[in-house]
Amino acid sequence: MSGGKEIFRARAVVKEYIPGRGFFGRSRRPVRALDGVDLSIDEGEVVALVGESGSGKSTFARIAVGLEPPTSGSIRLGGIDIAPGDKAALRAARRRMQIIFQDPSGSLNPRITAGEALAEVIRVHRRAPRRAAKEAAVDLLERVGLGGDDYRRYPHEFSGGQRQRIAIARSLAASPRFLVADEPLSALDVSIQAQILHLLIRLKKEFALTLLFITHNLAVVENIADRVAVLYRGRIQEEGPAGLLLRTPLHPYTKELVAAAVLFRPGGGRPVADLSSAVLPDPPAAEGCPFEPRCPIARARCVGARIEAIDTGGGRKVACLRATGEDTPA
Ligand SMILES: Nc1ncnc2c1ncn2[C@@H]1O[C@H](COP(=O)(O)OP(=O)(O)OP(=O)(O)O)[C@@H](O)[C@H]1O
Ligand SMILES: [Mg+2]
Repeated sequence: MSGGKEIFRARAVVKEYIPGRGFFGRSRRPVRALDGVDLSIDEGEVVALVGESGSGKSTFARIAVGLEPPTSGSIRLGGIDIAPGDKAALRAARRRMQIIFQDPSGSLNPRITAGEALAEVIRVHRRAPRRAAKEAAVDLLERVGLGGDDYRRYPHEFSGGQRQRIAIARSLAASPRFLVADEPLSALDVSIQAQILHLLIRLKKEFALTLLFITHNLAVVENIADRVAVLYRGRIQEEGPAGLLLRTPLHPYTKELVAAAVLFRPGGGRPVADLSSAVLPDPPAAEGCPFEPRCPIARARCVGARIEAIDTGGGRKVACLRATGEDTPA
């Protein structure tokens, strides 16, 4: 923890999806996408949420901004508790947060020009008159690296990277304090990824944003994040300051991730491994560590009771009996 003012907090967030009926109408077991996630974010922080495909990152993103309710657990944003079903609290909280996605096309209306889309959001959110909204929209286009001429262009007239800039501008038009970015670089050419990453870093400072940045690319984490939370099968396995966590990972899963990723170094030019194609093994038979089936240092105890994250000092938390020394030899 940086000791700052908490702006976002998730407590014991669980999300279960009920899959469609199977053959002969047999109901399938619910999929537990999130299994008791605790995460606090201080004002001005950039927290990276990392984990392989299917670990629950997007589910957490949607719940964090109120697009979906959790099955249980709580979300608090800017001092507002968003209890499931509390529509007034959700509306108040949602004014302060925005989300951007991997594919910006989905959130841009093809029939509205980039400038008009921004001006519309500005009129509604800032209650600005038409002319002021237009001026603010032009200003926003320039702040995300586009020109005033782009005001009149339609989404299909832009490249993928430019469309992501528009999506970013549109999220900023609502003057959010908290921005969730769900893999905002993944759909872009590698050469464009660095540009958008640096844009986000700059805008974060200019707009005094707090950022939850979701990625499966550890090289990106090293560039943007103050803190990292590692998600595996819906549970946070390790959390801590970015530099420390990447240099000296404690959880065996984090160790595996860090070893697999060839961390980007300036001038290095080596390919960067990512986690998008990792395959999840079957879940463990009983309560216990979700990583146990894959863990090189697992012990019989790891399959028993639920393993809670333990504070190891220096702002780090680890959910591993072996790493935290809880596993005293019998
Ligand atoms: N709407 C849904 N209905 C049913 N199951 C879902 C739904 N959304 C997510 N899931 C399941 O929840 C789990 C977590 O999915 P999620 O999309 O959150 O993972 P992710 O970490 O974002 O993965 P990726 O890196 O591929 O984007 C997966 O098993 C997924 O199949
Ligand atoms: Mg996802």
